[in-house]
Amino acid sequence: MLDHHTIEKYELGWLVVALVLIAMLFAGVLASMISETVPGFFGTKAQYIDPAKLSQTPFATPGLKTGPDGALDAYIVATAFQFQPNVLRVPAGRPVTLHMVSTDVIHGLLLGQGNVNVELIPGQVAVITKVFDHPGSYTSECNEYCGTGHQTMSFKLIVEA
Ligand code: CUA
Repeated sequence: MLDHHTIEKYELGWLVVALVLIAMLFAGVLASMISETVPGFFGTKAQYIDPAKLSQTPFATPGLKTGPDGALDAYIVATAFQFQPNVLRVPAGRPVTLHMVSTDVIHGLLLGQGNVNVELIPGQVAVITKVFDHPGSYTSECNEYCGTGHQTMSFKLIVEA
C-alpha cells in the first residue's frame, strides 16, 4: 500500500532522473559547441589561421598543387559569396588532401560524391584527405546560410579519369 512518504520517494527518484537527463542535455550541447569552436578539444588536429594573413600561405593561390613527392593538396578559400577556385579538377583514384578556409563568415561545402561535408569556420583550416573514385562533375552549393548571396555560392568538383 502506498502511503504519503512512499510517493514522495518515487517522486524524488524521477525528479533525480529528470535532472540527470537535463544535465546530460546541457553537457551535450556544451560539448558540441566546444568541439565546433575549438578543434583539438576531442583529439582532432587543430589548425588555426589568421584570415588576414592568407596571402602568406598556400591559400594565396587557391587550387590544386602537386608536391615534390607527387602528393596532391587542394586549397579552397570561401568568401561571401564565392569559392576560390569555384571549379576544382582532381584525378580519380588518388588521395587528395583538401585544405579549406573561410575569410569572413561560416560557409559550408558538401563535396563531390556526397560524403564530405565541411563547415568552414573563419580562423580555422579544415583538412580532409579523400580519394575520389568516380569520375564525373559534381556541383554543390554553400550549405551554411552566409548572407544575401548565399544561394549563388556554388562549387564544382570535376573528378577526371
Ligand atoms: Cu556561403 Cu552560404
